[in-house]
Amino acid sequence: MEKAVRALAPAKINLHLRVYGRRRDGFHGLRSIFQAVSLADEIIVRSLKETERIEIDGVFDCPPEKTTFYKAAQAFRRTTGERGGISVSVTKSIPQGAGLGGGSSDAAAFLRALDGLFETRLDEVTLARLGAEVGSDVPFFLKGGAALVTGRGETVEALEPREDFFGLVVFPGFPVSTAGAFALLDRERPDDRDEADPTSEELSLAYRMRPSAWPFANSFEPHVGRAHPEIPWWREALLGEGAAFAGMTGSGSTIFGIFDDADRVRSAKAALEGRGRGNFLMASIIPLAP
Ligand code: C5P
Repeated sequence: MEKAVRALAPAKINLHLRVYGRRRDGFHGLRSIFQAVSLADEIIVRSLKETERIEIDGVFDCPPEKTTFYKAAQAFRRTTGERGGISVSVTKSIPQGAGLGGGSSDAAAFLRALDGLFETRLDEVTLARLGAEVGSDVPFFLKGGAALVTGRGETVEALEPREDFFGLVVFPGFPVSTAGAFALLDRERPDDRDEADPTSEELSLAYRMRPSAWPFANSFEPHVGRAHPEIPWWREALLGEGAAFAGMTGSGSTIFGIFDDADRVRSAKAALEGRGRGNFLMASIIPLAP
């Protein structure tokens, strides 16, 4: 019998993102605070009668075989031996190449949906391992909410998500390549000793402080921001409209502002709309369980 599952795949922002040097495996070590936000893609996953078939339907910036859906379906089959046909259809709201983790979140929601549809009952450790094969941010999205993330992204320690602040997310209208941003960092920052480096404990404690007191920063921001002056422009504009904190998420290009109340977000959005290039995406910062 064919079955279907619908799921939401939320975006994330990195409130803090410290990137270390390139490791032997080609990845970079990280120490980051991830926060899920209400902006989300919607996926519908179906099991098909035809075995081996994988149908992927959506608007992507790459061929379907290069999507995280395809990679996740392959990883799921390798691990479970399941050969049943799979169809996934995605309605994207999260811009691609934006630092919002859309592809990784889609993959996490898809893996959970597959596990439910095929009743494979994968444990959390196996799911996280599968997720890490698909992309560095997938293990976070399998947990959702807020977390301290280390390693190359695979070590995820949940933080109790706050619900008392609000975010305004600005996609400036152009993508930034993640691999390209890491390469830029390697070129422009051969030595990272001068960069601030709060410990995991300091970061977890800081997450509970008022946003205007956050010591958070993003290692990519000065470098990607030099290449794209729209990024520092939007950051200053958000602060000018009353954001308690503002920064870039991931390797860009999205900039977010954190506000202490919802009315402030709305008035900042109204004031900024039309003033600069880019699409506003309203996103409330709320905990989103997987
Ligand atoms: O894991 P993911 O596919 O999201 O990574 C995309 C690219 O970003 C990798 O190929 C790698 O170049 C870079 N990356 C990295 N260190 C990380 C995560 C990603 O260098 N921790």
